[in-house]
Amino acid sequence: MTEDKIIPLISKEKIAHRVDELADEIVASVNERPMVIVGLLTGAVVFVADLMRVLSSRGVDVEVDFMIVKSYGAKETSSGKPKVILDLSVDIAGKTVIIVDDISDSGFTLTEVTSLIKRRDPAKVLTCVLLNKPVRRKTDFCADFVGFVIEDKFVVGYGLDKAEKFRGLPYIGYLEGE
Ligand code: IMP
Ligand code: MG
Repeated sequence: MTEDKIIPLISKEKIAHRVDELADEIVASVNERPMVIVGLLTGAVVFVADLMRVLSSRGVDVEVDFMIVKSYGAKETSSGKPKVILDLSVDIAGKTVIIVDDISDSGFTLTEVTSLIKRRDPAKVLTCVLLNKPVRRKTDFCADFVGFVIEDKFVVGYGLDKAEKFRGLPYIGYLEGE
């Protein structure tokens, strides 16, 4: 069996620094409370865990809930029709919602989730992604908060997977030969 070789792209130190900055950007521009983070599983799990703790250290207490929205399966290209596999358990009516995902690629997932969330009477809906791959966009989706803009490479680590592998890597990288 050949080992997958991961080429590092963004170090864990760079990620931590940028997550701190993103929390500062959110604190500076979102004044409305209560604030709810809606994390999209599974990819955003590590990012949400870090972001909520930085927000807490800045004195901002957030509610956190998760959804599972699937469009990829084990493939690398979006089917274009994200399906809700697990829905929210908290009521978001009247609250400021920040939808948090690991990466924005075609934009289908966040377009779909944003419109679904907006139908539930939140006070405001914002979006935050750690990574943005603008060259892959197939919608006009544009996140309010973006960690890093990256080129067209399939990345893994820090929650992101390839066929459910590599989510636990503390850094972000891509597979050799991709
Ligand atoms: P979109 O709907 O095409 O924007 O895709 C969003 C979802 O696809 C993300 O939440 C990721 O789970 C997955 N995805 C897109 N690009 C990558 C990648 O480079 N690595 C791992 N997952 C990805
Ligand atoms: Mg995802």
